[in-house]
Amino acid sequence: MITGASSGIGAAAARLFAQHGAHVVLTARRQKQLAALAEEIEAGGGRAAYVTGDVRRSRDMEHVVGTALDRFGRLDAAFNNAGQATPGRDPHEIPDGDYDTVMDVNVRGVWNCMRHQARAMLAGGRGSIVNTASVAGLLATGVGAPYVAAKHAVIGLTKAAAASYGDRNIRVNALAVGSTLTEMMESVVEQMPGVEQTFFARAIQKRFAAPAEIARAALWLCSDASSFVTGATLPVEGGTLAV
Ligand SMILES: NC(=O)c1ccc[n+]([C@@H]2O[C@H](COP(=O)([O-])OP(=O)(O)OC[C@H]3O[C@@H](n4cnc5c(N)ncnc54)[C@H](O)[C@@H]3O)[C@@H](O)[C@H]2O)c1
Repeated sequence: MITGASSGIGAAAARLFAQHGAHVVLTARRQKQLAALAEEIEAGGGRAAYVTGDVRRSRDMEHVVGTALDRFGRLDAAFNNAGQATPGRDPHEIPDGDYDTVMDVNVRGVWNCMRHQARAMLAGGRGSIVNTASVAGLLATGVGAPYVAAKHAVIGLTKAAAASYGDRNIRVNALAVGSTLTEMMESVVEQMPGVEQTFFARAIQKRFAAPAEIARAALWLCSDASSFVTGATLPVEGGTLAV
């Protein structure tokens, strides 16, 4: 199950997971993009289903998990990747509504997903959940304070869920994603021209990641190749946290 699969990192993950033999269930709000991606994966010999939904609505995510079980029999792995950013204005200039949206999409979204995924994985006896956090989950990077707070919360939820389910063969990890060239980043750069130079200034590798570079880390964490990794926040950020 991949959320936020209609573009960026989620779409790259859908392609990559399918190439590695996963049967993928894609979700996001945009039907057209999801349908085209599912069709592309199936045309390439993979297996893909899609369900439109909003991660802010628990019932939508329950429906996505149900679709995974109905179509493919079980849920082995989940990549909770849907997210939304706020531009980096001062907190007093950010409307309350933006705070609510950012917290709802990034934090409640992961919460909604994990609760339904955990039920399915407990029934199946195993599972791996990967939540998309950010360097902003560990540092004030210059993006909006609600986004920084939300991604910190994603890391907190990840650790707590890992601790809860660790004795029942379910691993839960997060990705501390760095600057990646996606629709979200394009919109941040449009609203804050030149902001990428601030991001690059911190990093060792002074460039944007391609979405596939993040997807490869998600694949590893979702797979048994990372069988002794849980509760972790894996940096995939060109060394931003190292210096
Ligand atoms: N691009 C970056 O530099 C960067 C850096 C750190 C973390 N991230 C995180 O990576 C994740 C993926 O973002 P991206 O960069 O690929 O951007 P993106 O805008 O291309 O993708 C975001 C995805 O989330 C979906 N989404 C947003 N709100 C949703 C909602 N309420 N319900 C369902 N789906 C929703 C969008 O439709 C889209 O599919 C996000 O969690 C983001 O916070 C991105």
